[in-house]
Amino acid sequence: MANSPSKSQPKAAASKPKAAALTNQRPDAESETTPAVLALIGNTPLVRISKFDTGPCTLFAKLESQNPGGSIKDRIALAMIEAAERAGTLLPGGTIVEATAGNTGLGLALVAAAKGYRLILVIPDKMAVEKINHLRALGAETRITRSDVGKGHPDYYQDIAERLAKETLGALYVNQFANPANPQAHEDWTGPEILRQMDGDLDAMIVGVGSGGTLTGLGRCFQKLSPKTKMIVADPAGSVIRDIVETGTHGEAGSWVVEGIGEDFVPPNCDLSLAHHAYTISDAEGLTAGRELLRHEGILGGSSTGTMFAAALRYCRTRATAERVVFLVADTGNKYLSKMYNDAWMADQGFIGADRHGDLRDLLARRYDRGQVVAVAPTDTLLTAFKRMRIADVSQLPVMQGDHVVGLLDESDLLLHVQEDPARFRDAVTTAMTARLETVPMNAPLSVLSGIFDRNLVALVVDGERFLGLLTRVDLLNHLRRRLG
Ligand SMILES: Cc1ncc(COP(=O)(O)O)c(C=O)c1O
Repeated sequence: MANSPSKSQPKAAASKPKAAALTNQRPDAESETTPAVLALIGNTPLVRISKFDTGPCTLFAKLESQNPGGSIKDRIALAMIEAAERAGTLLPGGTIVEATAGNTGLGLALVAAAKGYRLILVIPDKMAVEKINHLRALGAETRITRSDVGKGHPDYYQDIAERLAKETLGALYVNQFANPANPQAHEDWTGPEILRQMDGDLDAMIVGVGSGGTLTGLGRCFQKLSPKTKMIVADPAGSVIRDIVETGTHGEAGSWVVEGIGEDFVPPNCDLSLAHHAYTISDAEGLTAGRELLRHEGILGGSSTGTMFAAALRYCRTRATAERVVFLVADTGNKYLSKMYNDAWMADQGFIGADRHGDLRDLLARRYDRGQVVAVAPTDTLLTAFKRMRIADVSQLPVMQGDHVVGLLDESDLLLHVQEDPARFRDAVTTAMTARLETVPMNAPLSVLSGIFDRNLVALVVDGERFLGLLTRVDLLNHLRRRLG
Protein backbone atom coordinates (compact mmCIF):
# COMPACT_ATOMS: atom_id res chain seq x y z
CA MET A 1 0.00 0.00 0.00
CA ALA A 2 2.72 2.47 0.92
CA ASN A 3 4.40 4.67 -1.64
CA SER A 4 8.05 4.08 -2.41
CA PRO A 5 10.42 6.22 -0.35
CA SER A 6 11.79 7.83 -3.50
CA LYS A 7 8.51 9.68 -3.91
CA SER A 8 8.72 11.20 -0.47
CA GLN A 9 10.79 14.28 -1.21
CA PRO A 10 9.24 17.12 -3.14
CA LYS A 11 11.34 16.95 -6.31
CA ALA A 12 12.91 19.71 -8.35
CA ALA A 13 10.50 21.14 -10.87
CA ALA A 14 11.07 21.08 -14.60
CA SER A 15 9.80 24.63 -14.93
CA LYS A 16 9.91 26.30 -11.56
CA PRO A 17 8.09 29.58 -11.05
CA LYS A 18 10.44 32.43 -10.25
CA ALA A 19 11.55 32.41 -6.60
CA ALA A 20 10.43 36.00 -6.11
CA ALA A 21 6.90 35.10 -7.16
CA LEU A 22 6.72 32.49 -4.44
CA THR A 23 7.42 34.86 -1.59
CA ASN A 24 4.51 34.81 0.84
CA GLN A 25 2.63 38.06 0.83
CA ARG A 26 1.03 37.63 4.20
CA PRO A 27 -1.03 40.36 5.82
CA ASP A 28 0.61 42.69 8.26
CA ALA A 29 0.70 40.18 11.13
CA GLU A 30 4.27 40.74 12.20
CA SER A 31 4.32 44.44 12.98
CA GLU A 32 5.38 45.61 16.43
CA THR A 33 1.84 46.48 17.48
CA THR A 34 -0.01 43.29 16.53
CA PRO A 35 -0.28 40.42 19.04
CA ALA A 36 2.25 37.66 18.40
CA VAL A 37 -0.40 34.96 18.00
CA LEU A 38 -1.38 36.46 14.65
CA ALA A 39 2.14 35.83 13.34
CA LEU A 40 1.47 32.10 13.81
CA ILE A 41 -1.14 32.13 11.04
CA GLY A 42 0.03 30.48 7.83
CA ASN A 43 3.27 28.70 7.00
CA THR A 44 1.52 25.42 7.81
CA PRO A 45 3.20 22.03 7.26
CA LEU A 46 2.80 19.81 4.21
CA VAL A 47 3.05 16.06 4.85
CA ARG A 48 3.16 13.12 2.47
CA ILE A 49 0.46 10.46 2.71
CA SER A 50 2.30 7.14 2.95
CA LYS A 51 -0.14 4.47 4.16
CA PHE A 52 -2.76 4.61 1.41
CA ASP A 53 -2.93 3.39 -2.16
CA THR A 54 -2.51 6.57 -4.17
CA GLY A 55 -2.10 4.85 -7.55
CA PRO A 56 0.85 6.31 -9.48
CA CYS A 57 0.58 9.63 -7.60
CA THR A 58 2.24 11.22 -4.60
CA LEU A 59 -0.29 12.80 -2.30
CA PHE A 60 0.39 15.51 0.27
CA ALA A 61 -1.83 16.91 3.02
CA LYS A 62 -1.61 20.65 3.73
CA LEU A 63 -2.19 20.96 7.46
CA GLU A 64 -4.24 24.14 7.73
CA SER A 65 -5.43 22.62 11.00
CA GLN A 66 -2.15 23.89 12.49
CA ASN A 67 -3.24 27.53 12.32
CA PRO A 68 -3.80 28.98 15.81
CA GLY A 69 -7.60 29.08 15.36
CA GLY A 70 -7.48 25.54 14.00
CA SER A 71 -8.43 26.14 10.37
CA ILE A 72 -7.63 27.64 6.98
CA LYS A 73 -10.05 30.46 7.81
CA ASP A 74 -7.54 32.17 10.11
CA ARG A 75 -5.84 33.40 6.97
CA ILE A 76 -8.89 35.08 5.46
CA ALA A 77 -10.02 36.44 8.84
CA LEU A 78 -6.73 38.28 9.22
CA ALA A 79 -6.72 39.39 5.59
CA MET A 80 -10.34 40.65 5.59
CA ILE A 81 -9.96 42.56 8.87
CA GLU A 82 -6.72 44.17 7.81
CA ALA A 83 -8.21 45.10 4.43
CA ALA A 84 -11.12 46.82 6.26
CA GLU A 85 -8.68 48.61 8.57
CA ARG A 86 -6.76 49.90 5.57
CA ALA A 87 -9.96 50.97 3.80
CA GLY A 88 -11.18 52.76 6.95
CA THR A 89 -14.39 50.69 7.09
CA LEU A 90 -13.37 49.23 10.47
CA LEU A 91 -12.34 51.73 13.12
CA PRO A 92 -10.57 50.97 16.42
CA GLY A 93 -12.99 49.29 18.87
CA GLY A 94 -15.55 48.76 16.07
CA THR A 95 -18.02 45.90 15.58
CA ILE A 96 -17.61 43.06 13.14
CA VAL A 97 -20.61 40.95 11.98
CA GLU A 98 -20.39 37.73 10.02
CA ALA A 99 -22.45 34.73 8.94
CA THR A 100 -20.32 31.67 9.39
CA ALA A 101 -20.34 27.92 9.45
CA GLY A 102 -17.93 28.15 12.34
CA ASN A 103 -14.34 28.29 11.21
CA THR A 104 -14.41 31.79 9.76
CA GLY A 105 -16.00 32.77 13.05
CA LEU A 106 -13.13 31.20 14.97
CA GLY A 107 -10.59 32.99 12.79
CA LEU A 108 -12.43 36.29 13.16
CA ALA A 109 -12.83 35.76 16.91
CA LEU A 110 -9.10 35.15 17.24
CA VAL A 111 -8.19 38.26 15.27
CA ALA A 112 -10.96 40.36 16.88
CA ALA A 113 -9.86 39.32 20.38
CA ALA A 114 -6.24 40.09 19.54
CA LYS A 115 -7.06 43.47 18.01
CA GLY A 116 -9.86 44.52 20.40
CA TYR A 117 -12.99 44.44 18.19
CA ARG A 118 -16.53 43.37 19.15
CA LEU A 119 -17.69 40.38 17.08
CA ILE A 120 -21.24 39.15 16.41
CA LEU A 121 -21.61 35.82 14.58
CA VAL A 122 -24.70 34.25 13.00
CA ILE A 123 -24.31 30.46 12.96
CA PRO A 124 -26.51 27.71 11.45
CA ASP A 125 -27.75 25.24 14.06
CA LYS A 126 -26.09 22.13 12.53
CA MET A 127 -22.66 23.27 13.71
CA ALA A 128 -20.71 21.21 16.23
CA VAL A 129 -21.23 22.42 19.78
CA GLU A 130 -17.45 22.44 20.34
CA LYS A 131 -17.08 25.16 17.70
CA ILE A 132 -19.77 27.30 19.27
CA ASN A 133 -18.29 26.94 22.76
CA HIS A 134 -14.88 27.87 21.39
CA LEU A 135 -16.32 31.03 19.78
CA ARG A 136 -18.02 32.10 22.99
CA ALA A 137 -14.85 31.45 24.98
CA LEU A 138 -13.01 33.80 22.62
CA GLY A 139 -15.53 36.49 23.49
CA ALA A 140 -17.70 36.40 20.35
CA GLU A 141 -21.45 36.98 20.61
CA THR A 142 -23.35 34.24 18.80
CA ARG A 143 -26.81 34.07 17.22
CA ILE A 144 -27.85 30.52 16.31
CA THR A 145 -30.24 30.21 13.37
CA ARG A 146 -31.84 27.50 11.23
CA SER A 147 -29.69 25.43 8.89
CA ASP A 148 -32.68 24.03 6.99
CA VAL A 149 -33.59 27.14 5.02
CA GLY A 150 -31.97 28.57 1.91
CA LYS A 151 -31.04 31.96 0.52
CA GLY A 152 -33.96 34.38 0.47
CA HIS A 153 -35.64 32.92 3.58
CA PRO A 154 -35.77 35.49 6.42
CA ASP A 155 -34.04 33.00 8.77
CA TYR A 156 -31.17 32.28 6.35
CA TYR A 157 -27.95 32.89 8.29
CA GLN A 158 -26.31 35.17 5.73
CA ASP A 159 -29.42 37.35 5.39
CA ILE A 160 -29.69 37.66 9.18
CA ALA A 161 -26.05 38.77 9.42
CA GLU A 162 -26.53 41.39 6.72
CA ARG A 163 -29.61 42.78 8.50
CA LEU A 164 -27.82 42.81 11.84
CA ALA A 165 -24.86 44.75 10.42
CA LYS A 166 -27.23 47.35 8.94
CA GLU A 167 -28.97 47.77 12.29
CA THR A 168 -25.70 48.13 14.29
CA LEU A 169 -24.07 51.55 14.12
CA GLY A 170 -20.69 51.53 12.39
CA ALA A 171 -20.64 47.75 12.05
CA LEU A 172 -18.68 46.00 9.35
CA TYR A 173 -20.40 43.09 7.59
CA VAL A 174 -17.41 40.94 6.67
CA ASN A 175 -19.29 38.77 4.15
CA GLN A 176 -16.66 36.18 3.27
CA PHE A 177 -18.90 35.12 0.37
CA ALA A 178 -18.28 38.36 -1.54
CA ASN A 179 -15.32 40.01 0.21
CA PRO A 180 -12.45 40.24 -2.32
CA ALA A 181 -9.86 40.01 0.48
CA ASN A 182 -10.92 36.36 0.97
CA PRO A 183 -9.74 34.93 -2.37
CA GLN A 184 -6.93 37.48 -2.41
CA ALA A 185 -5.46 35.95 0.78
CA HIS A 186 -5.19 32.57 -0.93
CA GLU A 187 -3.92 34.04 -4.19
CA ASP A 188 -1.14 36.02 -2.51
CA TRP A 189 -0.39 33.85 0.48
CA THR A 190 -1.67 30.23 0.62
CA GLY A 191 -1.01 29.52 -3.07
CA PRO A 192 2.62 30.70 -3.19
CA GLU A 193 3.22 28.92 0.12
CA ILE A 194 2.01 25.59 -1.31
CA LEU A 195 4.03 26.01 -4.51
CA ARG A 196 7.14 26.82 -2.52
CA GLN A 197 6.65 23.70 -0.34
CA MET A 198 6.11 21.59 -3.49
CA ASP A 199 9.26 23.05 -5.01
CA GLY A 200 7.12 24.56 -7.73
CA ASP A 201 5.90 21.17 -8.99
CA LEU A 202 2.16 20.66 -8.37
CA ASP A 203 -0.14 18.79 -10.76
CA ALA A 204 -3.46 18.92 -8.90
CA MET A 205 -4.93 20.70 -5.91
CA ILE A 206 -7.99 19.27 -4.15
CA VAL A 207 -10.24 21.84 -2.47
CA GLY A 208 -13.73 22.15 -1.06
CA VAL A 209 -16.08 25.03 -1.82
CA GLY A 210 -17.79 26.99 0.92
CA SER A 211 -17.42 30.68 0.09
CA GLY A 212 -15.30 29.68 -2.89
CA GLY A 213 -12.39 31.80 -1.63
CA THR A 214 -9.97 28.89 -1.55
CA LEU A 215 -10.88 27.66 -5.05
CA THR A 216 -10.80 31.13 -6.57
CA GLY A 217 -7.67 32.35 -4.79
CA LEU A 218 -5.61 29.22 -5.33
CA GLY A 219 -6.96 28.84 -8.87
CA ARG A 220 -5.90 32.39 -9.80
CA CYS A 221 -2.51 31.93 -8.18
CA PHE A 222 -1.79 28.70 -10.05
CA GLN A 223 -3.05 30.13 -13.35
CA LYS A 224 -0.31 32.72 -13.04
CA LEU A 225 2.49 30.76 -11.37
CA SER A 226 1.83 27.11 -12.22
CA PRO A 227 -0.53 26.84 -15.20
CA LYS A 228 -0.29 23.03 -15.28
CA THR A 229 -1.96 22.73 -11.85
CA LYS A 230 -5.54 21.43 -12.06
CA MET A 231 -8.10 22.55 -9.50
CA ILE A 232 -10.24 19.62 -8.29
CA VAL A 233 -13.34 20.21 -6.17
CA ALA A 234 -14.53 17.76 -3.51
CA ASP A 235 -18.24 18.38 -3.10
CA PRO A 236 -20.58 16.77 -0.53
CA ALA A 237 -23.57 14.90 -1.98
CA GLY A 238 -26.50 17.32 -1.82
CA SER A 239 -24.44 20.38 -2.79
CA VAL A 240 -25.01 21.97 -6.21
CA ILE A 241 -21.34 22.67 -7.04
CA ARG A 242 -20.32 19.36 -8.62
CA ASP A 243 -23.08 19.38 -11.24
CA ILE A 244 -22.31 22.95 -12.25
CA VAL A 245 -18.62 22.08 -12.76
CA GLU A 246 -19.22 18.78 -14.55
CA THR A 247 -22.42 19.37 -16.52
CA GLY A 248 -23.22 23.07 -16.27
CA THR A 249 -26.56 22.33 -14.63
CA HIS A 250 -27.77 23.82 -11.33
CA GLY A 251 -29.63 21.03 -9.52
CA GLU A 252 -31.83 21.15 -6.45
CA ALA A 253 -29.81 21.36 -3.21
CA GLY A 254 -30.23 18.63 -0.60
CA SER A 255 -28.67 18.41 2.84
CA TRP A 256 -25.39 17.01 4.09
CA VAL A 257 -23.62 16.48 7.39
CA VAL A 258 -20.10 17.53 6.41
CA GLU A 259 -19.36 21.02 7.74
CA GLY A 260 -17.89 24.04 5.98
CA ILE A 261 -18.12 22.90 2.38
CA GLY A 262 -20.92 22.35 -0.12
CA GLU A 263 -23.32 25.08 -1.27
CA ASP A 264 -26.89 25.61 -2.38
CA PHE A 265 -25.84 28.58 -4.54
CA VAL A 266 -22.68 29.86 -6.21
CA PRO A 267 -21.24 32.64 -4.01
CA PRO A 268 -19.84 35.74 -5.70
CA ASN A 269 -16.34 34.74 -4.51
CA CYS A 270 -16.60 31.36 -6.20
CA ASP A 271 -15.25 31.30 -9.75
CA LEU A 272 -16.18 27.80 -10.89
CA SER A 273 -14.55 28.36 -14.29
CA LEU A 274 -11.26 27.74 -12.44
CA ALA A 275 -12.32 24.17 -11.48
CA HIS A 276 -11.15 21.45 -13.87
CA HIS A 277 -13.09 18.62 -12.30
CA ALA A 278 -15.39 17.91 -9.33
CA TYR A 279 -16.30 14.79 -7.38
CA THR A 280 -19.46 14.14 -5.39
CA ILE A 281 -18.58 12.53 -2.07
CA SER A 282 -21.31 11.13 0.17
CA ASP A 283 -21.27 11.92 3.89
CA ALA A 284 -20.55 8.26 4.64
CA GLU A 285 -17.56 8.12 2.27
CA GLY A 286 -16.13 11.45 3.43
CA LEU A 287 -16.47 10.79 7.15
CA THR A 288 -15.09 7.27 6.81
CA ALA A 289 -12.10 8.58 4.83
CA GLY A 290 -11.46 11.17 7.55
CA ARG A 291 -11.48 8.47 10.22
CA GLU A 292 -9.09 6.33 8.16
CA LEU A 293 -6.76 9.29 7.71
CA LEU A 294 -6.49 9.60 11.47
CA ARG A 295 -6.14 5.88 12.07
CA HIS A 296 -3.41 5.29 9.49
CA GLU A 297 -1.59 8.60 9.14
CA GLY A 298 -2.27 10.17 12.54
CA ILE A 299 -3.81 13.25 10.91
CA LEU A 300 -6.78 14.59 12.87
CA GLY A 301 -8.80 16.51 10.29
CA GLY A 302 -12.42 17.64 10.26
CA SER A 303 -15.33 16.37 8.21
CA SER A 304 -14.42 18.42 5.13
CA THR A 305 -10.91 16.97 5.29
CA GLY A 306 -12.41 13.50 4.94
CA THR A 307 -14.37 14.67 1.90
CA MET A 308 -11.29 16.17 0.27
CA PHE A 309 -9.17 13.14 1.15
CA ALA A 310 -11.77 10.79 -0.38
CA ALA A 311 -11.79 12.89 -3.58
CA ALA A 312 -7.98 12.99 -3.58
CA LEU A 313 -7.79 9.19 -3.37
CA ARG A 314 -10.30 8.81 -6.21
CA TYR A 315 -8.37 11.31 -8.32
CA CYS A 316 -4.96 9.73 -7.62
CA ARG A 317 -6.12 6.17 -8.21
CA THR A 318 -7.52 6.99 -11.64
CA ARG A 319 -4.41 8.70 -13.04
CA ALA A 320 -2.45 7.05 -15.83
CA THR A 321 0.82 8.80 -14.95
CA ALA A 322 2.57 9.98 -11.80
CA GLU A 323 1.20 13.26 -10.48
CA ARG A 324 1.95 15.35 -7.43
CA VAL A 325 -1.27 16.17 -5.62
CA VAL A 326 -2.16 18.24 -2.54
CA PHE A 327 -5.38 18.24 -0.52
CA LEU A 328 -6.34 20.47 2.38
CA VAL A 329 -6.72 19.44 5.98
CA ALA A 330 -8.85 22.55 6.27
CA ASP A 331 -9.62 22.26 9.97
CA THR A 332 -8.86 20.11 12.99
CA GLY A 333 -10.87 17.10 14.04
CA ASN A 334 -10.79 18.27 17.65
CA LYS A 335 -14.06 20.02 16.89
CA TYR A 336 -15.72 16.80 15.74
CA LEU A 337 -14.71 14.34 18.46
CA SER A 338 -18.31 13.92 19.57
CA LYS A 339 -19.49 13.52 15.96
CA MET A 340 -17.47 11.80 13.22
CA TYR A 341 -14.90 10.36 15.65
CA ASN A 342 -17.60 8.98 17.93
CA ASP A 343 -18.73 5.46 16.92
CA ALA A 344 -22.13 5.85 18.60
CA TRP A 345 -22.83 9.05 16.64
CA MET A 346 -21.67 7.43 13.38
CA ALA A 347 -23.98 4.48 14.06
CA ASP A 348 -26.89 6.78 15.01
CA GLN A 349 -26.48 8.53 11.66
CA GLY A 350 -26.35 5.18 9.87
CA PHE A 351 -22.77 5.73 8.61
CA ILE A 352 -21.25 2.67 10.31
CA GLY A 353 -22.48 -0.51 11.95
CA ALA A 354 -24.47 -1.43 8.90
CA ASP A 355 -24.41 -5.12 9.89
CA ARG A 356 -28.18 -5.39 10.00
CA HIS A 357 -29.88 -8.31 11.71
CA GLY A 358 -33.52 -7.50 10.99
CA ASP A 359 -34.35 -7.49 14.72
CA LEU A 360 -34.13 -5.23 17.76
CA ARG A 361 -30.33 -5.36 17.73
CA ASP A 362 -30.49 -2.94 14.78
CA LEU A 363 -31.90 -0.28 17.09
CA LEU A 364 -29.14 -0.52 19.70
CA ALA A 365 -26.78 2.46 19.40
CA ARG A 366 -24.56 0.94 22.10
CA ARG A 367 -24.01 -2.75 22.80
CA TYR A 368 -23.23 -4.05 26.30
CA ASP A 369 -21.50 -7.14 24.91
CA ARG A 370 -19.15 -4.83 22.95
CA GLY A 371 -18.23 -2.76 26.01
CA GLN A 372 -20.17 0.30 24.77
CA VAL A 373 -22.77 0.58 27.54
CA VAL A 374 -22.06 2.61 30.66
CA ALA A 375 -23.34 0.64 33.70
CA VAL A 376 -23.04 0.43 37.48
CA ALA A 377 -22.69 -2.40 39.97
CA PRO A 378 -25.30 -2.87 42.75
CA THR A 379 -22.69 -1.91 45.36
CA ASP A 380 -21.59 1.32 43.64
CA THR A 381 -22.73 4.50 45.38
CA LEU A 382 -25.46 6.69 43.94
CA LEU A 383 -22.87 9.44 43.58
CA THR A 384 -20.79 7.21 41.29
CA ALA A 385 -23.92 6.39 39.30
CA PHE A 386 -24.84 10.06 38.96
CA LYS A 387 -21.33 11.04 37.81
CA ARG A 388 -21.42 8.28 35.17
CA MET A 389 -24.80 9.48 33.92
CA ARG A 390 -23.47 13.02 33.56
CA ILE A 391 -20.25 12.00 31.82
CA ALA A 392 -22.03 9.67 29.39
CA ASP A 393 -24.92 12.12 28.97
CA VAL A 394 -27.57 9.44 29.62
CA SER A 395 -30.54 9.56 31.96
CA GLN A 396 -30.53 5.92 33.06
CA LEU A 397 -28.01 3.17 33.76
CA PRO A 398 -28.39 -0.60 33.82
CA VAL A 399 -27.28 -2.15 37.12
CA MET A 400 -25.11 -5.16 36.26
CA GLN A 401 -24.16 -8.18 38.33
CA GLY A 402 -21.66 -9.87 36.05
CA ASP A 403 -23.42 -10.19 32.70
CA HIS A 404 -26.93 -10.05 34.20
CA VAL A 405 -29.04 -6.92 34.52
CA VAL A 406 -30.40 -6.84 38.05
CA GLY A 407 -31.89 -3.37 37.97
CA LEU A 408 -32.19 -0.02 36.33
CA LEU A 409 -31.44 3.36 37.86
CA ASP A 410 -32.84 6.50 36.27
CA GLU A 411 -32.76 10.18 37.12
CA SER A 412 -36.19 10.14 38.75
CA ASP A 413 -35.27 7.16 41.01
CA LEU A 414 -32.15 9.03 41.99
CA LEU A 415 -33.88 12.34 42.64
CA LEU A 416 -36.61 10.70 44.70
CA HIS A 417 -33.95 9.02 46.83
CA VAL A 418 -31.70 12.02 47.54
CA GLN A 419 -34.03 15.02 47.48
CA GLU A 420 -34.75 15.01 51.22
CA ASP A 421 -31.15 14.36 52.21
CA PRO A 422 -28.19 14.77 49.80
CA ALA A 423 -26.13 12.56 52.16
CA ARG A 424 -28.05 9.67 50.63
CA PHE A 425 -25.86 10.04 47.51
CA ARG A 426 -23.52 7.80 49.55
CA ASP A 427 -26.08 4.95 49.61
CA ALA A 428 -25.66 1.91 47.40
CA VAL A 429 -27.31 1.77 43.98
CA THR A 430 -29.57 -1.07 45.17
CA THR A 431 -31.36 1.31 47.54
CA ALA A 432 -32.74 3.46 44.68
CA MET A 433 -32.83 1.26 41.59
CA THR A 434 -35.91 -0.39 40.23
CA ALA A 435 -35.82 -4.15 39.89
CA ARG A 436 -39.00 -4.24 37.82
CA LEU A 437 -37.45 -4.70 34.39
CA GLU A 438 -38.97 -4.81 30.94
CA THR A 439 -36.77 -7.34 29.18
CA VAL A 440 -37.49 -7.96 25.52
CA PRO A 441 -36.01 -10.77 23.43
CA MET A 442 -34.01 -9.41 20.52
CA ASN A 443 -36.39 -11.02 18.01
CA ALA A 444 -39.54 -9.40 19.48
CA PRO A 445 -41.53 -7.24 17.03
CA LEU A 446 -41.03 -3.46 17.02
CA SER A 447 -44.62 -3.02 18.22
CA VAL A 448 -43.73 -4.24 21.75
CA LEU A 449 -41.63 -1.13 22.23
CA SER A 450 -44.46 1.39 22.04
CA GLY A 451 -46.29 -0.38 24.87
CA ILE A 452 -43.16 -0.14 27.05
CA PHE A 453 -42.44 3.49 26.15
CA ASP A 454 -46.10 4.44 26.77
CA ARG A 455 -45.59 3.35 30.37
CA ASN A 456 -42.47 5.57 30.50
CA LEU A 457 -40.20 2.54 30.81
CA VAL A 458 -37.02 1.50 29.05
CA ALA A 459 -36.67 -1.76 27.09
CA LEU A 460 -33.79 -4.08 27.98
CA VAL A 461 -32.93 -6.17 24.94
CA VAL A 462 -31.68 -9.68 25.73
CA ASP A 463 -30.39 -12.67 23.79
CA GLY A 464 -31.61 -15.49 26.03
CA GLU A 465 -29.94 -14.66 29.36
CA ARG A 466 -27.41 -12.28 27.82
CA PHE A 467 -28.03 -8.52 28.15
CA LEU A 468 -27.40 -6.69 24.85
CA GLY A 469 -28.42 -3.10 25.52
CA LEU A 470 -31.06 -0.50 26.38
CA LEU A 471 -33.69 1.02 24.12
CA THR A 472 -35.42 4.32 24.74
CA ARG A 473 -37.75 6.45 22.62
CA VAL A 474 -34.86 8.20 20.89
CA ASP A 475 -33.48 4.87 19.64
CA LEU A 476 -36.83 4.03 18.06
CA LEU A 477 -37.02 7.52 16.55
CA ASN A 478 -33.48 7.19 15.13
CA HIS A 479 -34.37 3.81 13.67
CA LEU A 480 -37.51 5.16 12.01
CA ARG A 481 -35.62 8.17 10.64
CA ARG A 482 -32.95 5.89 9.14
CA ARG A 483 -35.73 4.06 7.30
CA LEU A 484 -36.52 7.35 5.56
CA GLY A 485 -33.24 6.80 3.72
C1 LIG B 1 -13.98 23.40 7.14
C2 LIG B 1 -13.98 24.18 5.88
N1 LIG B 1 -14.61 25.33 5.82
C3 LIG B 1 -14.64 26.01 4.66
C4 LIG B 1 -14.03 25.55 3.53
C5 LIG B 1 -14.24 26.22 2.23
O1 LIG B 1 -13.42 27.20 1.99
P1 LIG B 1 -13.94 28.42 1.16
O2 LIG B 1 -14.92 29.18 2.00
O3 LIG B 1 -12.69 29.16 0.88
O4 LIG B 1 -14.59 27.91 -0.08
C6 LIG B 1 -13.33 24.42 3.58
C7 LIG B 1 -12.62 23.94 2.42
O5 LIG B 1 -11.49 24.01 2.25
C8 LIG B 1 -13.34 23.71 4.76
O6 LIG B 1 -12.77 22.53 4.83
